[in-house]
Amino acid sequence: MSFAAAADRLRSARRVTVLTGAGVSAASGIPTFRGAGGLWRQFRAEDLATASAFARDPRLVWEWYDWRRAAVARAEPNRAHHVLAGWSRRFEAFHLVTQNVDGLHERAGTEHVTRLHGSIWTLRCWQECGAPPWADERVPLEPLPPRCPACGGLARPGVVWFGEALAASDLVAADRACSCDVFIVAGTSAVVYPAAGFAETARSRGAFVAEINPERTAMSDLVDLSLRGNAEIVLDALELRLTEG
Ligand code: OAD
Repeated sequence: MSFAAAADRLRSARRVTVLTGAGVSAASGIPTFRGAGGLWRQFRAEDLATASAFARDPRLVWEWYDWRRAAVARAEPNRAHHVLAGWSRRFEAFHLVTQNVDGLHERAGTEHVTRLHGSIWTLRCWQECGAPPWADERVPLEPLPPRCPACGGLARPGVVWFGEALAASDLVAADRACSCDVFIVAGTSAVVYPAAGFAETARSRGAFVAEINPERTAMSDLVDLSLRGNAEIVLDALELRLTEG
């Protein structure tokens, strides 16, 4: 199966779903969680993105999110985000399912986005006082850790941490999106579930599944086609094939 054949599949597809991960934002200058540059100080994401890490040291966890927020605030959507934004209007049924919390897909104008892991621009009350989540786009955040405007207690990032449940409505939307003609997995190490299972679900329902990643991943043997390259380059090349007709 070649790149050209994949482009043909895409051209004749009615329903297209793309699952993205941190690699799609790498060309915007936002560090990925795993692989080269994936560490912040000496910590791994699994050591910081948990409720127990926050309970132990909320300031440390907030420093990490504040650092990520600053990186995202400086960043612009890259070619991968822009191609996918165009696809969200090109196909009869397009769905973007993302693990990214940076909001760059939305900034690029992508429609039909399911954000599985929440947003770093949203905050929630850690004490769950009943205040609804709120938007806060200040960089840097002051004070750190920030406070809940309703009860004055600690605020936490509005993201889904390891060990926490994804919103049921997002899981339903993602599951529906697995019923498609072409399913593309781009820029994710595909080790964090349930997102990592979606490609298999799509394939079991008859979708053509392709992966875009410069490195081999846990998904590589399960997909119909593994396109080894950066998302901003491979998606751009696919877009060129599509528009050439
Ligand atoms: P990872 O950091 O685990 O994986 C990023 C992937 O992107 C790797 O497989 C890289 O090879 C690949 N990559 C790097 N540059 C790329 C490029 N230019 N184009 C395409 N791919 C590139 O990120 P995720 O898979 O998104 O969750 O991580 C999944 C979840 O684990 C995240 O949502 C986050 C994290 O810890 C939580 O915080 C709960």
